[in-house]
Amino acid sequence: MTDVFSTPAAPAAAPAPVRSPLPGGLAGSTVLVLGGTSGIGLAAGRLLHEVGARVVLSGRSKDRLDAAVESVAGDGGDAEVLGAVADVTDEDAVRAAFDLAGRVDHVLLTAGAFTGAGAVAELTAEAARAAYDQRAWAALIVARLAAERLPAGGSITLTSGSLVLRPRPGMAGAMAAVGAVEALTASLAVELAERRVRVNTVRYGGFDTPLMRAAGGLETDEAIRQAGAGTPLGRFGTAEEAGAAPVFLMANTYITGQVITVDGAQTLA
Ligand SMILES: NC(=O)c1ccc[n+]([C@@H]2O[C@H](COP(=O)([O-])OP(=O)(O)OC[C@H]3O[C@@H](n4cnc5c(N)ncnc54)[C@H](OP(=O)(O)O)[C@@H]3O)[C@@H](O)[C@H]2O)c1
Repeated sequence: MTDVFSTPAAPAAAPAPVRSPLPGGLAGSTVLVLGGTSGIGLAAGRLLHEVGARVVLSGRSKDRLDAAVESVAGDGGDAEVLGAVADVTDEDAVRAAFDLAGRVDHVLLTAGAFTGAGAVAELTAEAARAAYDQRAWAALIVARLAAERLPAGGSITLTSGSLVLRPRPGMAGAMAAVGAVEALTASLAVELAERRVRVNTVRYGGFDTPLMRAAGGLETDEAIRQAGAGTPLGRFGTAEEAGAAPVFLMANTYITGQVITVDGAQTLA
């Protein structure tokens, strides 16, 4: 049984390897991006390809996946770009994505959609469980598979949102699930440190992505501009600005167990 009260003995494994903590240090590594066919994940995949990483993009829609792979590979660069269809709530499908990738050094989990929204009094158990599956269970699936497969020096980067800190009515079901990802970050980091695998989460504010545009009332450029004008920096972030944060966390070899906020101070205003 796990002893939860005593300080663990120092593990016998060699210390975490040292490599360049700059994005260029990711050249030649393989990154699996779950949720990599749109928005933040796709932008991260593009940046990773630019720095010379081999990238495996994943999402549920085959059409969207094919377009994403073609678009990232078409940007130039020699590193391979692959695609794997997988729903992150399905452990076998995520395992198959790992298998297709072969060696995986880093995993980024950005998969997510609006699930579990609505007044708490009307929230169904099915909707709450679907939100949990899509966020927390997906993160646990990734951690279970990554624990077996990632090499020393590997990393997992998860995703949450600033509504966890700055809630709005009607988001309790969704934020219970997203908040669980933040709680998991520290636990997984402590557990996987023995394997020299790091675990971090990026907590995003509002970014102009297909998810935001599908949220209702923000379909047009003008609607996005107007809504973003009220934020501290006068606009929402771009997908590239969002995607650069997980690249930083993957590259920096000494950050683990952290939730970093990337929101243009939206949480503070
Ligand atoms: N944009 C924002 O303002 C914002 C703010 C806070 C947090 N976030 C979070 O950041 C993450 C990325 O958001 P985004 O704006 O980049 O969204 P997006 O443009 O809609 O991209 C979401 C990606 O996740 C995939 N996906 C969704 N559900 C999936 C599932 N069950 N299994 C596998 N893939 C799935 C989608 O592809 P398929 O649909 O084809 O599967 C797509 O590739 C999400 O978790 C979102 O909640 C975004």
